[in-house]
Amino acid sequence: MKQIRIMALGLALSLALTACGGAQSGQKGNKQSEAPANHLEQIKAAGKIVLGTSADYPPFEYHEIVNGKDTITGWEIEMAQAIADKLGVALEIKEGKFETLIADLNTEKTDFVISAMSIDEDRKQSADFSEPYFHGGQVVLAKKANAGELKDAASLNGKTVGVQLGSTGEEAAREVEGATIKSFDAFEAAVLDLISDRVDAVVADYAVAQNYAKSYTDLVVAFELSKEDYGVVFRKGDDELREAVNAILAELLENGTIDQLIAKYEAAAPAQ
Ligand code: ARG
Repeated sequence: MKQIRIMALGLALSLALTACGGAQSGQKGNKQSEAPANHLEQIKAAGKIVLGTSADYPPFEYHEIVNGKDTITGWEIEMAQAIADKLGVALEIKEGKFETLIADLNTEKTDFVISAMSIDEDRKQSADFSEPYFHGGQVVLAKKANAGELKDAASLNGKTVGVQLGSTGEEAAREVEGATIKSFDAFEAAVLDLISDRVDAVVADYAVAQNYAKSYTDLVVAFELSKEDYGVVFRKGDDELREAVNAILAELLENGTIDQLIAKYEAAAPAQ
């Protein structure tokens, strides 16, 4: 009941504000100058930018208990925070399934996406990317005991391979003849299946696979499948925001911030 009253109050307030805004612009001869001109201006006017991310990919973005509180962290989260800081706005994190991050962006649930998302021709049909800020690629993670027989894509024939739904890793794995693909909403679930021998291998980004191999010593990176570059993702035609973020990324690359974050979170890049 209380909540309904608060909502009603909010509605009344926003109506009053709209009416007020209308009157003001009327006084100025109906100039539309007060409406923010583009998405970047809207973000600045709102004082916050909403990040879409799938926080299941350590060390890029993941959950961690910090001072007893469930927190989303990771090197890309710190990079997103640095971008928001440079734009002069607060960062709000909206967690989503990796598979629907671009749909959530396009339905304006989020303003931009950072989620170890590889710059990919298919995705470019429905979204725009920044310049690359990290060079990675897909690798195959396996149990040490089985890694010997896994040396190239063809050796996945007859194997069950865990992948994240909607990822480039899924795409790569589906191209392997004779492999059975098991897709997961959350990447971590694929790793759990590998640990408990429900899949023979998992496809992941190099730094993520290395990270798991470090925490679970019976896992190892068996071989590399592809090279990829990561980009920040925007709605198609959101050029002002994309250009502003490109300029910030160039600065963060230039002044060593990104390198420091990669080092802090041990997000090693594969040899190029
Ligand atoms: N780099 C891969 C891709 O773009 C996987 C990224 C998964 N990211 C995540 N936060 N779970 O498809």
